[in-house]
Amino acid sequence: MSSVDPRQLKIAAAAEALTHVKSGMKLGIGTGSTAEEFVRLLAVKVAEGFEIIGVPTSERTAALCSELGVPLTTLEETPHLDLTIDGADEVDGDLSLIKGGGGALLREKIVAAASDAMIVIADESKIVDTLGRFPLPVEVNRFGLAATKIAIEKAITDLGLEAPLSLRMKDGEIFVTDGGHYILDASFGRIPDTKALSDALFAIPGVVEHGLFIGLARVAVIAGTSGIRTL
Ligand code: A5P
Repeated sequence: MSSVDPRQLKIAAAAEALTHVKSGMKLGIGTGSTAEEFVRLLAVKVAEGFEIIGVPTSERTAALCSELGVPLTTLEETPHLDLTIDGADEVDGDLSLIKGGGGALLREKIVAAASDAMIVIADESKIVDTLGRFPLPVEVNRFGLAATKIAIEKAITDLGLEAPLSLRMKDGEIFVTDGGHYILDASFGRIPDTKALSDALFAIPGVVEHGLFIGLARVAVIAGTSGIRTL
């Protein structure tokens, strides 16, 4: 196989992940184009009588699940989940991730942390040696945006790193997350110490969340031109 439709790779990863889902499970359901392929396959199983209940990680995913008949609950009603299945923007060899390209990082991390396990589904283009090629989303409170941006820039410099920050825009307007926050995308190129960066970002009051997912994913299902790999 030399040229494979990228969508087919996403479907292949989603289909493999679906084999880990058992009837009766309480599921976290991710956001993004790969997670949406998972929702479509899950909806077919539900229509066949498979009993699951899902917590969506975004309004966008909630809308797709509702449209396709996937039963939904909330973390308020169902605070403990068996499994979350979600995409990623980057995956490294330790299964640390960058997420949030779709802007859903806050709910994605809350849902993953409330789950016994997280399976990441991705095509092989998402695999990297060192995280950071994909700009790191940092979700910030709208209040004090300029001050928070300066504090993030200082934290980055103090770590000996460089990363221009850009306020995420969509259709000519500032992008607003489902939680009502803004996103600053930080272009590191590479992040040598993800834990140190995570700690430094969380020490800044206006930072709500960031897209480094460390120690959350147990399994990554990676679809490539030569087949599926489970890491
Ligand atoms: C959503 O906020 C993200 O974390 C997505 O999971 C990530 O961007 C992967 O999306 P794709 O599957 O569309 O590449």
